[in-house]
Amino acid sequence: MTFALITGASKGIGKAIAEQLASRGYNVLLVARSEQLLREVANNISSQFKVQADILSLDLSVPDAPENLYHWCIEKNYPVSILVNNAGYGLSGSFERFSPGENLNMMRVNMIALVHLCQLFLPMLRQQKESYILNIASSAAYQAIPYLSVYSATKAFVLRFSRGLRRELHGSSVSVTVISPGATDTDFVVRAKVGEKGVKTAEKVNMTPQKVAELSVNAMFAGKAELITGFINKVGAFLSWLMPNGVVEKTAMKIYE
Ligand SMILES: NC(=O)c1ccc[n+]([C@@H]2O[C@H](COP(=O)([O-])OP(=O)(O)OC[C@H]3O[C@@H](n4cnc5c(N)ncnc54)[C@H](OP(=O)(O)O)[C@@H]3O)[C@@H](O)[C@H]2O)c1
Repeated sequence: MTFALITGASKGIGKAIAEQLASRGYNVLLVARSEQLLREVANNISSQFKVQADILSLDLSVPDAPENLYHWCIEKNYPVSILVNNAGYGLSGSFERFSPGENLNMMRVNMIALVHLCQLFLPMLRQQKESYILNIASSAAYQAIPYLSVYSATKAFVLRFSRGLRRELHGSSVSVTVISPGATDTDFVVRAKVGEKGVKTAEKVNMTPQKVAELSVNAMFAGKAELITGFINKVGAFLSWLMPNGVVEKTAMKIYE
């Protein structure tokens, strides 16, 4: 019996992905900082879907957190066949407004922990007949976004890393999928402190975390390389590719300045 390990599973998209996988019969390992929320999610999942659900509360911005998570799985004898790197957050506003520590911590959670977990769990994933890595990027990955500069760069990194790793693992038992959600109705905007203009723009195109999770898990099991969720977000990414960078960046900046 194998397990799906989901980071950032205390709420939002990660919680919805955990529920989606549990509904398909997977045991789930839920990771985030908020122990109480994790416990509630795990209790609901195990009673609703009759699968095993365990939790580990840790802060993925701490450098040895991925090692601790890996050793926890080994000690508990949890064979992982699905690794979902979903934990992440943004900080909106001028680059200089944030301290180096704030920007570095975001980079650690969004990029470094994600790469570290892929590296640590790959040998275990390779041992399974079929296994999956599901990395959550963002529609922010397809262009630079002034006033969300570090966040959009971290998500561009996730997109490129995931596609590269997928190609390296071609022919192995491990399939890598990267998902780029657009605006989704979660606490993301609260933590990112997105201004009124950004919130109003997001509200017009918001998807539910449940819909994003369903599309993500379907894409993962279908072995897709990359998915941008929703038609409007797909059009946005296409226009970002088509139009001059300067025009795209000025337009994006107006949402977050
Ligand atoms: N919502 C959107 O509009 C949107 C759009 C594109 C991409 N995304 C991406 O989707 C993913 C999920 O975000 P969401 O929208 O579901 O936001 P959310 O509701 O704020 O959830 C973020 C999750 O990440 C966890 N997390 C944050 N910092 C962490 C840390 N230092 N260590 C461990 N876990 C941490 C949070 O749990 P704790 O706070 O309990 O630690 C929470 O479970 C993120 O990667 C985000 O960048 C979101």
